[in-house]
Amino acid sequence: MDGATPSKSRLFDGFLLKLHHLEMTRRNIRGKAREHDVETECAIIGGGLAGCTAALELAAAGRRVDLFVKGRLARESNSYLLAGGLAAVPLLSGKPLTGDSFALHVKETLAAGKGLNDPRVVKFCVEHFFPDVIQWLAKQGVSFDASRRGYPFDLHREGGHSRNRIFHVQDTTGMSIMGALVKRVMEHPRIRIHEEHVAIDLITRNKLKHSRGQDSCLGVYVYDIASDRVRTVACRAVFVATGGLGKVFMYTTNADVATGDGFAICHRAGLPLANMEFVQFHPSVFYDSTTEVENERRFLLTEALRGAGAILKLHKNDTRDFMLDYDSRGSNSTRDVVTRAQDIEMRKHGLKHLWLDCTRIGAAKIRSDFRSAYAYCRTHGVDMTREPVPIIYAVHYSNGGVLVGAHGETSMRGCYVLGETAFTGLHGATRLASNSGPECVLFGRLSARHFLDHFAPSEHPAPVPFWNAGSAQPLRDKTTVAYYWDAVRRTMTHLCGISRNEERLVAARTVLESVRKNIHDFYWNYRVTKDFLEVRNIADVAMLIVQSALARKESRACHFREDHPQNDDRHFRKLTVVRGDGLVCFRKV
Ligand code: SIN
Repeated sequence: MDGATPSKSRLFDGFLLKLHHLEMTRRNIRGKAREHDVETECAIIGGGLAGCTAALELAAAGRRVDLFVKGRLARESNSYLLAGGLAAVPLLSGKPLTGDSFALHVKETLAAGKGLNDPRVVKFCVEHFFPDVIQWLAKQGVSFDASRRGYPFDLHREGGHSRNRIFHVQDTTGMSIMGALVKRVMEHPRIRIHEEHVAIDLITRNKLKHSRGQDSCLGVYVYDIASDRVRTVACRAVFVATGGLGKVFMYTTNADVATGDGFAICHRAGLPLANMEFVQFHPSVFYDSTTEVENERRFLLTEALRGAGAILKLHKNDTRDFMLDYDSRGSNSTRDVVTRAQDIEMRKHGLKHLWLDCTRIGAAKIRSDFRSAYAYCRTHGVDMTREPVPIIYAVHYSNGGVLVGAHGETSMRGCYVLGETAFTGLHGATRLASNSGPECVLFGRLSARHFLDHFAPSEHPAPVPFWNAGSAQPLRDKTTVAYYWDAVRRTMTHLCGISRNEERLVAARTVLESVRKNIHDFYWNYRVTKDFLEVRNIADVAMLIVQSALARKESRACHFREDHPQNDDRHFRKLTVVRGDGLVCFRKV
């Protein structure tokens, strides 16, 4: 470390902003543009549904776009794994189909959100999901399943929805949508794609000037895995669309890339994040008793199966839907209700897993509408048309995220946050199933429009300092980094899962403090690698979740505190906001 670097304890204890200032001094120098650095108008981080939508809209308006993805664009994102579909009130000649209405979809979204959604945002989104989102996707080449009766589209139902309003392509909707969008992105002459690039940190005016006023985003540092070097990206705006944070926990439905990068990057840049304690678990992922691999991604059995009549059972030969003991909607209740009941019953009866009985859906419908689930179960020795499927819950979705305005804009000029990484106000304390896909498209488009309205075309972004690795050494021994991965994920799974209490959360905080201190020391001493950048991010995000969970001393939807089992509207019908300095406060909804 050079002389300007403070003691390690000060690094850890001080405000993050201080850390950023030091980082800029330590790691960067000014100089002429280098061949591997990038100058562009818009840098998009993440190539899922939100990122691709924004890229296409910006490029269509003539802007230069550079899209950075951590893996391969054509395969690796949570959006690909989206099984169920997109929720939207179906319209025919401009009118909702009989029995459905915007008001009903709004009501059900608010009911799931348990008082923490922004009702104006919910109304706006619901009224724009159809036709704006569904028809925009259709124009991009997505063929939603057609109806066999009357209405042009076949519609599924999922937990918490009282009507069939899920537009889908069998049970591989994400794959079809992403197939269509990625093709367009790849063909577009104004979009440059950079695969295998990991975003490190935003470059902001405040960081450069060591100031604290109104901030603006000037670019981003990205690590190019193939060439093992950091590229400096100078741009007019960064669109952060990195998706979820499932890898913060051991068992997740999420893709391997879901290491909460956007949450962590925005937090380190000083942006506030809301409701990070509300991590949604999915009730039905395939339970494979033969695998010893704990960290494997779990195969998701879409909630539309329960919407079509599948029921949850405690034991294989039960005939009863055990969820009826918890909620009159039975197995079709919202995810927070189902997963909490699952957790209680599994502890009570010492069960390792539960069962999903799909037999009442009928073999023909299973084989036509749920082809992917059927095939997966068959290859794992279960015929879901004839017998129940062993299932368990797994981490699925972050309801919390970076606080954004009505167009995905943040308080930092030139920084937009989209998709799962953003908190728009649509999802409150839990997300109603399939509301997030259309949100990605809607805000992808809105943010692009906002940028076009606020940033006139310009060839050159403001100059930014180039990344310089200084005297950092290559990281040769990977064992420590692997240990940090394991420590963070195990801590979160065991101490900050579905059921939480003060003791466990404080224990989690203690472990994370120590791991994060070591990680931050590592960051200063060694050259960055993908694994290391990711573990730095999951550790930071884990801490945001734990801090927010500690602050919310009540139970609400996805956040269940054994020591505060009641809803406490008087004190906590508010957003938990965690700021750049790590302090948590509450804000009016
Ligand atoms: C599912 O198909 O069950 C997942 C869809 C979602 O998370 O909204």
